[in-house]
Amino acid sequence: MKQEADLPVVQLDPNLRRALDSTARFYEVHAAEYFERTVTADLSRIHDRFLAFVPAAGRILDAGCGSGRDLREFVQRGYRAKGIDASRELVKRAERYSSAPCHVMRLEALSFTNCFEAIWACASLLHLPKSAIGGVLRRFGRALVPQGVLFASVQVGQGESLGSDGRFFAYYTKAEFEGVIGAASFELVDVWTSQDLLSERGTVHWINLVARVTPKRHFERARSGPAAAPDKASEKPRRERA
Ligand SMILES: C[S@@+](CC[C@H](N)C(=O)[O-])C[C@H]1O[C@@H](n2cnc3c(N)ncnc32)[C@H](O)[C@@H]1O
Repeated sequence: MKQEADLPVVQLDPNLRRALDSTARFYEVHAAEYFERTVTADLSRIHDRFLAFVPAAGRILDAGCGSGRDLREFVQRGYRAKGIDASRELVKRAERYSSAPCHVMRLEALSFTNCFEAIWACASLLHLPKSAIGGVLRRFGRALVPQGVLFASVQVGQGESLGSDGRFFAYYTKAEFEGVIGAASFELVDVWTSQDLLSERGTVHWINLVARVTPKRHFERARSGPAAAPDKASEKPRRERA
């Protein structure tokens, strides 16, 4: 599998970098508890909707794999799955639980080229500042093979916030999230909203989508080479809601 280790990490304002580090610290410190809380959630309907677009035995990258719940499902269904996550403790647990290879890697430093039929980014892009998500989506595009598909889910809402638990969140309207995906040269193939599956959070709603990397993205990549310019980001996180 081809990996490019020397690409520039998405550039961020120091305040946003601190917000991302604080999010990563949350998952590292609370890994055991987070694993227990999320590993049994039943995402089978969402898996089915996503896997309908993935060829049998295809390679799937779980970007922000958390407990390894979804990796395990993909492996059991015969896909060749791999996980990455910023939290070393979650990576250990995910690898043990799923038997899929898992690595400590930040989304904003994703360094794979042309080697996955699909990327699953369930509830992970929501921890990126809006100013950084485009750069990460372009990295996803580069990691996918031509015609590769992306699943992504984020929480419905507006703005960005640094919660009292230290986690940074970006919230989207459906139109806004579709726009972000389209701007990164993906075309939508399915989009739907759903209620949160963790029962104590009945007020939380999700935007789920499946999008295909466009031929344009691959054409641009071929012309400009893999070392895309780093993304500029200057927004500061606003405390809106926990
Ligand atoms: C809300 S959890 C979702 C976990 C899993 N995908 C699920 O659906 O249960 C967010 C996950 O993304 C990881 N994460 C957050 N920011 C990240 C980043 N910048 N790079 C890589 N992983 C990140 C966290 O460590 C955590 O495992």
